[in-house]
Amino acid sequence: MAKQALKGVLSTIGNTPLVELVHLFPDFPARVFAKLERFNPGGSIKDRSALSMLMERIHSGELVPGRSVVIESSSGNLAIGIAQICGYYGIDFVCVVDAKTTEQNVAILRAFGASIELVTERDAETGEYLPARLRRVAELVASTPNAYCPNQYANPLNPLAHEGTMREIVEALDGPVDYLFSAASTFGTALGASRFVRRSGLSTRIVAVDAVGSLLFGTVPGQRLIPGHGASIRPALLDPSAADDVVHVTDLECVVACRTLTIREAILGGGSSGATVAALGKMRDAIPEGSNVVMIFPDGGDRYLDTIYSDSWVNRHFGEVSHLWKENSSTKVAPC
Ligand SMILES: Cc1ncc(COP(=O)(O)O)c(C=O)c1O
Repeated sequence: MAKQALKGVLSTIGNTPLVELVHLFPDFPARVFAKLERFNPGGSIKDRSALSMLMERIHSGELVPGRSVVIESSSGNLAIGIAQICGYYGIDFVCVVDAKTTEQNVAILRAFGASIELVTERDAETGEYLPARLRRVAELVASTPNAYCPNQYANPLNPLAHEGTMREIVEALDGPVDYLFSAASTFGTALGASRFVRRSGLSTRIVAVDAVGSLLFGTVPGQRLIPGHGASIRPALLDPSAADDVVHVTDLECVVACRTLTIREAILGGGSSGATVAALGKMRDAIPEGSNVVMIFPDGGDRYLDTIYSDSWVNRHFGEVSHLWKENSSTKVAPC
């Protein structure tokens, strides 16, 4: 995609910072880095996917303000990324969300001018909202003239965007990227990174981070409290051979890792950022000394203040567990 053709706020998508984390794992004999995707203007890595799936059609004149309608199922970051781009160009966007979508996200979508289509009934077979949301999208696309559904779960332009994410990481690091930890849902990020690595002949191991209870990599489907990583369907983009390792993380491990990350590095990470930190903690003994490890942090914690960063929410779901991250604060290393 011709990045130089982007204007205004959209020209700031991508080229996010890669920072070294020296406090997070004090005794770990490897260098640890994080790619901070919250610095995208919509606040997450999904700005990249949204841009990739929409811009070609906007530039070619297939998506026209006042005539075309973008319709997509997303309750979070992708929706915000699409809403921002559609808002910039004045293109109508109908976002299909469900009752689990946070009020804050709905407010952000409305502020960008998106129309909200709320699905209230769960899919009868799976008990999940996602299949019901995807059905509603199909109905709307069929009944709306000039509709376009990006379909992040199957669109090859989604992983294509993340070949660029991986290229940025490789170019920013002064040495090889030995491990890349990537939270997985549509699998777009991990697949794009893996394709870049293999096409470039690099030896980076791609570690996919999934949630316990997700359908992606074969755990028994179950309740998951934290959005971002994991999925209740098997996306068409899922290619298990693109991941060298898979690590599953529980909701509690994710919360503890988010809180620890904030205490040790002063990074307010989103849920899936915590999941990658927890996954690295689980794999650390298998990682050789001197390795360079990169984690992608897909978004920031400000969209999780009522959940992960709320003591009463954590208490309600897991009991009194604050000692699990308070213990961690005492091992913080000296400033450097
Ligand atoms: C916060 C967050 N983390 C991780 C992911 C997973 O990324 P991908 O869909 O590329 O697998 C998403 C996807 O929406 C996300 O919003």
